[in-house]
Amino acid sequence: MRLSVNVDHIATLRQARRGDEPDPVAGALLAEMAGADGVIVHLREDRRHIQDRDLKLLRQVVKTHLNMEMAPTEEMVSIAQEVGPDMVTLVPERREELTTEGGLDVAGKAHLLSPVLRALQGRGIVVSLFIDPVPDQVKAASKLGADFIELHTGKYAEAEDTATELHELEKLEEMANMAHKLGMGVGAGHGLNYRNVRNVAQIEAVEELNIGFSIIGRALFVGLERAIKEMKELVSK
Ligand code: PXP
Repeated sequence: MRLSVNVDHIATLRQARRGDEPDPVAGALLAEMAGADGVIVHLREDRRHIQDRDLKLLRQVVKTHLNMEMAPTEEMVSIAQEVGPDMVTLVPERREELTTEGGLDVAGKAHLLSPVLRALQGRGIVVSLFIDPVPDQVKAASKLGADFIELHTGKYAEAEDTATELHELEKLEEMANMAHKLGMGVGAGHGLNYRNVRNVAQIEAVEELNIGFSIIGRALFVGLERAIKEMKELVSK
């Protein structure tokens, strides 16, 4: 199981003072040294955390795998084409949200997403679609020619009782299997932490977990290297 570390929240802290520290680029280098298999950043339309400069520098220094999360807009497509991340993960984006709240409606917005996929894939960028774990979305992602899907684990992570948690876990496993059978790679993420990650890490069809907030939060107390090593150990077991 690969672990990709989202370093947005290092930038969130930096932007609190609009200064130049802490630097998410330095965080990405440390993450790789600690054993992360990839680095993810979300360049948001409002630039609330990651800045264009971060993305460009990350492209130069990240040696593992650089995944750029972005909304399917013209502005973002042209930035991605210029920077050339290894992977783009298309996500829905609303200015007023605190974080990405739901998956992309691939089934309903196929006509808008199709040219975006072609524009990115045409430049050799692998495209992943961040979707809720429901059959219609998985099938629509496959029909659109997505290389990868990332299953939204938010409902699983936020489950308030064991029955709901197990139900959400089952949905994740079924949809991971469906996507795998349809020939797509499968990642998962959102809200995963040191307590809830293990069950998702055990789903065989999931190749990669994308985790940010819990790792950066823990790093405040134990350091980034240890926070990543501990998470890597949990997802590798
Ligand atoms: N995957 C996607 C598509 C996301 O939007 C996010 C949040 O930026 C994550 C994974 C990571 O979520 P978290 O920060 O809750 O670990």
